[in-house]
Amino acid sequence: MSAATSISLPRVLVVHGPNLNLLGLREPSVYGRKTLEEINAALAALGQRLGVAVETFQSNHEGAIVDRLQKAIGACDGVVINAAAYTHTSVAIRDALAMLSMPVVEVHLSNIHKREPFRHTSLTAAVVTGQIVGLGPVGYQLALRAIAEMIPLGVAVA
Ligand code: DQA
Repeated sequence: MSAATSISLPRVLVVHGPNLNLLGLREPSVYGRKTLEEINAALAALGQRLGVAVETFQSNHEGAIVDRLQKAIGACDGVVINAAAYTHTSVAIRDALAMLSMPVVEVHLSNIHKREPFRHTSLTAAVVTGQIVGLGPVGYQLALRAIAEMIPLGVAVA
């Protein structure tokens, strides 16, 4: 083994869908006052404590989210996703998630089941490992903790 031997941390991708870039400003009575930057910073800090590398991605575009999920194949060990409105409409994101053979946790800040009927259906729920709804930003933290529990320990690489 060379002197350059290092431990590669498990990698967790956190995907945020449309309009979540405006968290903090957007309907604060529903989504709270925390910004996406604050949520992502808290996830990065938790990742450090848990020993996982957290990568965050936000897009308002369905195809960009599909592209990012495809890139996770073979590169990431777990995914946290809030596909936002695409949760209720996107067969393409559902199909991309179905290709992933790693733990995937779907998160919604609000309790989608308490809201308008069109939000009660998640096209993605049937292809993810689990779902956390209605707990606000804490839901992301719990999702990251769950994934860290589910993935194997980091692998030593030269
Ligand atoms: C959401 C719920 C969705 O119905 C909505 O379109 C969002 C956010 C949530 O986090 O509560 O944009 O995913």
